[in-house]
Amino acid sequence: MKRHGYEPIVYDNLQTGHREAVRNGSLVFADLADAETLEKTLRSHSVDSVMHFAADSLVGESVQNPRKYFNNNVRNSMQLIDILSELKIRKFIFSSSAAVYGEPETVPIPEENPCSPTNPYGETKWIFEKTLEAFHALGKIDYISLRYFNAAGADPEGDLGEDHAAETHLIPLVLKATLDNASVPIFGTDYDTPDGTCIRDYIHVTDLAEAHILALKGLMDGKSSGVYNLGNGSGYSVKEVLKTAENVTGKKITSYEATRRPGDPPRLVASSDKIQRELGWIPKYPELTTIIQTAWEWHRKHPKGYSSEPKGSRVQGSKGSGKR
Ligand code: UFG
Repeated sequence: MKRHGYEPIVYDNLQTGHREAVRNGSLVFADLADAETLEKTLRSHSVDSVMHFAADSLVGESVQNPRKYFNNNVRNSMQLIDILSELKIRKFIFSSSAAVYGEPETVPIPEENPCSPTNPYGETKWIFEKTLEAFHALGKIDYISLRYFNAAGADPEGDLGEDHAAETHLIPLVLKATLDNASVPIFGTDYDTPDGTCIRDYIHVTDLAEAHILALKGLMDGKSSGVYNLGNGSGYSVKEVLKTAENVTGKKITSYEATRRPGDPPRLVASSDKIQRELGWIPKYPELTTIIQTAWEWHRKHPKGYSSEPKGSRVQGSKGSGKR
């Protein structure tokens, strides 16, 4: 953001985030549910646009604990929209998800494909997209929803990467397994796909970040609404991801067959033609090998995640109530 001339304010309860990952701008340590701090933050920093990433995002967990998902991803997000409307902050970028599609009719999936989520996480993203559409129709907000496919990889400069307390995402999980000599479960080998395992479209986090800048510029230049897929248009099965990770790391990865994970659609591959055409998005790292290589660099250099670095060394500012 900073590199593009914006002054970012990060508002995060650090439930899954890390102080050390805030490299530019200031961090407000507070919860999305905390309306008072949220409003104070938006006012005191004269915020003119918002990128909303503050959601719970695990498909499996959403099936087990839907309350958590509807409460945070819908209720707290709705409160955010109310505050933005009151403060007349109009420009909004929403992290949506491929999970809105459910089991798509057409693959690669165009944005016009009907949305019919197969898990509560996807439901919450779909409900919130519809909320934005309705507020836009009332003239209260300009927005762009970005439907991420499988975000993966790490900052190619090696400083930022994934660090989750309990890792559930395939690529980091596989790479950590090679460092810990652990075995990887394959959730379902009887899907209707060539090798029986689920197919996903992996997109590099830097390309994802770039799309947010383009979306923001689009809103600044007068675009008033839009919904875009973000993926590379190539699908890889779980077994293909394991194979590629073996090639990148030079290590044998052991795996075992496990039952299907509830809520997982068999095949999600994006058509990202629309964002390429309308916003000029061009992915720099479309190859799965490169995505895994950058992630591998991060995991090798940071075997304990952000705690591999001196605590708090990079935080530039820290304000807020600290409430969670
Ligand atoms: N998988 C395994 N073993 C594991 C972990 C994952 O086989 O130990 C499989 C999953 O079943 C899935 C694939 O690897 O088929 C990818 O799983 P991830 O958990 O890495 O990612 P998801 O596809 O579940 O989730 C991602 C995003 C969501 C988005 C979703 C769309 O994280 O935000 O894609 O379904 F909604």
